[in-house]
Amino acid sequence: MPVLSNIEALAACREEGGQSEIHLIEDAALVWEGDLISWVGRRTEVPSRYRDEPLHDARGALVVPGLIDCHTHLAFGGWRADEFAQRIAGTSYLDIARAGGGIARTVRETRAISSRDLLGRCDGFLDQITRLGVTTVECKSGYGLDWENEHKLLKVYERLAHTHPLRVIPTFLGAHTLPPEMSGDRQRYVRLIIEEMIPQVAEEGLAGFCDVFVEDTAFTIDEARQILEAGLRHGLKPKLHADQLSDTGGASLAAEMGAVSADHLEQISRQGIEDMANAGVVAVSLPLASLYLDQPFMPARDLIEAGVAVAVATDFNPGSAPSFHLPLAMMLACTRQRMTPSEVLKGVTLYAARALDLEDRLGSLEPGKEADFTLIDAPSVDHWLYHFRSNACLGSYVAGVALQRPAGR
Ligand code: NIG
Ligand code: FE
Repeated sequence: MPVLSNIEALAACREEGGQSEIHLIEDAALVWEGDLISWVGRRTEVPSRYRDEPLHDARGALVVPGLIDCHTHLAFGGWRADEFAQRIAGTSYLDIARAGGGIARTVRETRAISSRDLLGRCDGFLDQITRLGVTTVECKSGYGLDWENEHKLLKVYERLAHTHPLRVIPTFLGAHTLPPEMSGDRQRYVRLIIEEMIPQVAEEGLAGFCDVFVEDTAFTIDEARQILEAGLRHGLKPKLHADQLSDTGGASLAAEMGAVSADHLEQISRQGIEDMANAGVVAVSLPLASLYLDQPFMPARDLIEAGVAVAVATDFNPGSAPSFHLPLAMMLACTRQRMTPSEVLKGVTLYAARALDLEDRLGSLEPGKEADFTLIDAPSVDHWLYHFRSNACLGSYVAGVALQRPAGR
């Protein structure tokens, strides 16, 4: 039963108290047995039964629940650096998409890459993500857009979930956009998703969630409703890419469907905020996408004040958010969305776990939860996000096992 000690401060991030309450304990200790936490509290109050257990030295770190990136598009072929340059020169993201670039371009390159190469790439991304203190990553399909290639992506995630020490949580996003070969026949593709892909994803147990991108260039509200209902019939919980580039009523649909999360929401309406608050849907903010596309940020304050839990994630993908740096997204949520560092921390821990329906196992440091935690080289949460560095992570543990041991300072 190892004991982690020499902790300057520990943020437990339990449920009570809402977005801003992170339950800070100074001079803390944490005890775990196997993969589960058994005790958390002040070092001076560690029960005597744990006194002779093996000690792990946190070296004066700030200890937080393992960070959760609850929205990524990890598996894709190629990159789109030329589009980045075009956007800087003034061409819009939507114009690039309409000209055959954007998601459709990545679909071509993803179909061309072998499953083995894709696995190698993703494995490399996950290694780098691990070093930032992230312990759980949600991974969407959506760059295959035919069964063979959607299946290829989901199988890569299945393999990573078994071979990589990070927790990999797969989501089926067959409804990312229309595949080029069916752009003239949307109904056919929607039927293919509903009648063939979703049942197959469920039968093979390849994903726990079904996501849809609702947007002018992607799917309508009605199509999304049909797809999410089909997902529900097969046990896939709904998620939505909603109200990113325009307000299409995606947030209200997420509420109507009882989605676990609605993500993006840069253009969410008052009605959408109210509906999400009433339905208890988590809002996932993706500030890197706003930064890269030079677009408005999700109105996080309005959502929090209405009682919506706001999670923060990277949206890592080759177009709108080509970075997997979760702490950078966290810092932007502070400076651009006026979330306090404590609110942001809750957004990448407990509320990110809620956005993956894993709140009963992950996201906070309390007895009975998985022993996933991250050591940060900062005297406080405020200091961590204020004095932004390329990497402030000293080490992390998943299920009680050190992924990286705390290095000396
Ligand atoms: O979440 N919004 C839709 N999908 C991605 C962008 C994907 C891309 O540009 O390749 C997103 O931002
Ligand atoms: Fe996304």
